[in-house]
Amino acid sequence: MPERFVPYGRQLIEDDDVEAVTQALRSDYLTTGPMVERFEASLAAAAGVRHAVAVNSGTAALHAAYSAIGLGPGDEIVTSPLTFAATGNAALYCGARPVFADIDADTGCLDPAAAEAAITPRTKAVVPIDYAGLPAQYDELGEVAARHGVPLVADAAHSLGASYRGRPVGSLATASAFSFHPVKTITTGEGGAVTTDVEAIAVAARRFRTHGIERASGRLRHPDRPAWYQEMQALGFNYRLTDIGSALGVSQLAKLPRFLARRTELARRYTEAFGDLGSIRLPVTPSDRISAWHLYVIRANDPARRDPLFEALRARGVGVQVHYLPVYLHPYYQDLGYKAGACPVAETFAASCLSLPLFPGMSDDDQSFVIEAVRQTVADVLGR
Ligand SMILES: Cc1ncc(COP(=O)(O)O)c(C=O)c1O
Repeated sequence: MPERFVPYGRQLIEDDDVEAVTQALRSDYLTTGPMVERFEASLAAAAGVRHAVAVNSGTAALHAAYSAIGLGPGDEIVTSPLTFAATGNAALYCGARPVFADIDADTGCLDPAAAEAAITPRTKAVVPIDYAGLPAQYDELGEVAARHGVPLVADAAHSLGASYRGRPVGSLATASAFSFHPVKTITTGEGGAVTTDVEAIAVAARRFRTHGIERASGRLRHPDRPAWYQEMQALGFNYRLTDIGSALGVSQLAKLPRFLARRTELARRYTEAFGDLGSIRLPVTPSDRISAWHLYVIRANDPARRDPLFEALRARGVGVQVHYLPVYLHPYYQDLGYKAGACPVAETFAASCLSLPLFPGMSDDDQSFVIEAVRQTVADVLGR
């Protein structure tokens, strides 16, 4: 292990976050209490929507969102393979099949034309991923989805706080799924949420996170029963976020603008520092979008040199990471019959990419260390 190691991502927890969690621990409710509702109200406001349903991971948020739009056995979703496995896995949990369509070579986000070509009569949703924090082409993808009569369900795990054509992520799809894992833009430890303007989706997601059980008298199949009565109306899970996590979420969400400003500043400095390196490509941000800068992803022009670059940077203490192996190349998906070569743009992107350290608590000195190491290592391994 090198003496100094800068990870690719890391939470920023401050004294007031600790205080917020401590207060929750001393309160009457550790779960299913008032902090969950407060966190949901703050999130809904941040995303510019009427409903936010907090759950205990981004994966649970995807599962709840898919289930709430009625995804089931025999159905398909069309999505990007340049994502974490959970985007596809949550469709498998529903008995549905993820169909992977290729990405835009500049941004790494789902390509609207490729998505349209992948739609079949079984398609129940188009699922964009806001890769690295950059919003996907929501308007174009929304038109594709609308032409085929299906909703957009966004995997917004990377992009809380980002916006597209002036509208916040979380309000751009019929339902959006967020993650609050520690490397994400804010954290609740583990956690996630579904945001939506559609009340029926919020009601279904809320029921889904607690075993499919309904308590509201207006929604009971048997409203004439005594006050203790609650009924299970669908098969659900225990996907509840605790009040402890929600208290952390409320505290963190208040800092989102500051966290995003720091991420943006760090990204700007990387772009400035690497502008003259001809052997790598830097991230592209189209002018109609504001990224949340979850990741700063460089690409080696020669994909065959990416792994040596990875090894050399790790050896120097730079915690680079690869996001991602295309989902369908995982052995489990290969065993299901998915074939290599299906999305050539994504495969080339994935073979070339490397995420550099980027997190709000990263100091200028940490970044100078990373910049120096990257410049030297790129020159050594790839040439200028
Ligand atoms: C694109 C994407 N989707 C979904 C998830 C799943 O989120 P979680 O780890 O909170 O379950 C992640 C997080 O790793 C992600 O990066």
